[in-house]
Amino acid sequence: MFSKVRKSLVALMALSIVSGVAAKAVANEQVKAEPWWKQAVVYEIYPRSFADSDNNGMGDIKGITSKLDYLKDLGVDALWITPCYPSPQVDFGYDISDYKAIAPEYGTMADFDELLAEAKKRDIKIIMDFVMNHSSDKHPWFVESASSKDNPKRDWYIWKNGAASGPPNNWISLFGGSAWKLYPKTNQYNYHFFYPEQPDLNWRNPEVRTAMYDAARFWLDKGVAGFRLDAVQTLFEDPKLPDNPVREGKNQYGDPNTEYLHNDKLPEVHDVLRELRAVLDKYPGDRVLIGETSGSDIAEISKSYGKDLDEVQLPMNFILAYINKLSVPEFRKRIEEWDNNPARGWPLYFFSNHDQVRHYVRYGDKIHNNEIAKLTATLLLTLRGTPMMYYGEELGMQNNDPKTKEEVQDPIGKIGWPAEIGRDGERTPVQWNADVNAGFSTAKPWLPVSPNYKQVNVVVESSDKNSVLNFYKQLIRLRKTEDALMHGTYVAMDEKNQDVLSYLRKTNKGSVVVALNMTPASKVVQLDLKSKGIDAESANPLLASYEVGSSNANLKSFTLPAYGVFIGKVK
Ligand code: NOJ
Repeated sequence: MFSKVRKSLVALMALSIVSGVAAKAVANEQVKAEPWWKQAVVYEIYPRSFADSDNNGMGDIKGITSKLDYLKDLGVDALWITPCYPSPQVDFGYDISDYKAIAPEYGTMADFDELLAEAKKRDIKIIMDFVMNHSSDKHPWFVESASSKDNPKRDWYIWKNGAASGPPNNWISLFGGSAWKLYPKTNQYNYHFFYPEQPDLNWRNPEVRTAMYDAARFWLDKGVAGFRLDAVQTLFEDPKLPDNPVREGKNQYGDPNTEYLHNDKLPEVHDVLRELRAVLDKYPGDRVLIGETSGSDIAEISKSYGKDLDEVQLPMNFILAYINKLSVPEFRKRIEEWDNNPARGWPLYFFSNHDQVRHYVRYGDKIHNNEIAKLTATLLLTLRGTPMMYYGEELGMQNNDPKTKEEVQDPIGKIGWPAEIGRDGERTPVQWNADVNAGFSTAKPWLPVSPNYKQVNVVVESSDKNSVLNFYKQLIRLRKTEDALMHGTYVAMDEKNQDVLSYLRKTNKGSVVVALNMTPASKVVQLDLKSKGIDAESANPLLASYEVGSSNANLKSFTLPAYGVFIGKVK
């Protein structure tokens, strides 16, 4: 999931021709329209870093509301907001102490309701982060649970007696150290997959399920469009507590053969996903679940769609998101396997998030970074599936990693420095303008603003027609106006080419061709549309990262500059 940790961290109803009584039934029922989330561009917001309305150095809900016009203009349709519930903020919100309230440092419930209403006016949906695996150790449920062995909430969390030598078994926390913390008061160990301050809820207890589904309904009743499910694969542990195998050199989270064998991806997870989905499906408007679903192969990730596509609609494919190098064969392979996933579920694509070094840095060569940012944006926004962006990627924001241990805020960095520098670098404030603190706040921001903010910011980039920001805007608009980009099948082209990734988005009414040069040298590309059943040799340029002019491009031979991308329309 994150460096070791980073690395490791309706179906559409067919319309049939019917007559008489059946026809009437169809007319009455209405054919189910395509769900909104298939057409949406999702945008992740880290509230603490987005916009600070009260100038205390921390972003807040009103700050997000104040930037809705910017987000509308960018073209995004849904916001995934990372946790904004009351929390001691040990893991910056991923340690929740009340599932039905808003963190006071981020605002009030009235502020949240205003955000929902203002977003709705702009046709933007709000997706909450839902942390089911664990709560904060300051949640009243846990405080009660820890108070005595016979407390009625004792079994809401996982308590075990120690073994002779210490903890009940050898399980380790993803964030380091044993996954067991001894509570001397009751002389039992408490289980935590993440920090000790994030005790795992016991999903085998029906009362826990009821309480959590009730919390989900609270937000669904308010009108949120769905949830991003945090760490959902680690909800269950083998009750017999067998030791996990420890393999030297094979220590990657998500690998089924590592030390997480007995406390990760247990089959019971799917029962919970089906139950939660059933809760959502009772609401109108195609509420959606995005799953933080890791896995070392597509079959594993794909399981989270559910056998009847009745679990998570949009699982996150970290195999693709963790590709660290621009490699045509690697992207081609990973896109094809995701596009053809065994569940035939709708793909979700993303390259960056709050746990991972920004892809601007991962793929950048320090010379062509902006060209590369446009290339990855093109990939994200022209594939068959829902694109999910991370705030600031539309600006080409970079990581601003801490230089000393004293600067670090993320506990991963505090504990693991210098081997683990933590995730602060990818969580820095949005660069709105060239004013003090990049216009994020007049107070000292909780994390330092990236030093490049005078050049890389919304105001500067808005007035530069060649900026990364303007490229994202054009791509998002193109995606919405070209039906093939929304609904076309994905057809790989020029499959042996190691330097240029080319593909078609194909429909019966017209197709779009995309070519991406993943090298620092210019490349001649030769595409044979006839071999893909299209009787054409040229394409009408729709968008490119270089000057193409308006005349048709001869696809039989055309040149892409270093890291250049071309998108064209063919019949
Ligand atoms: C995944 C989240 O994305 C990450 O930020 C968090 O630290 C862990 N889950 C624990 O909740």
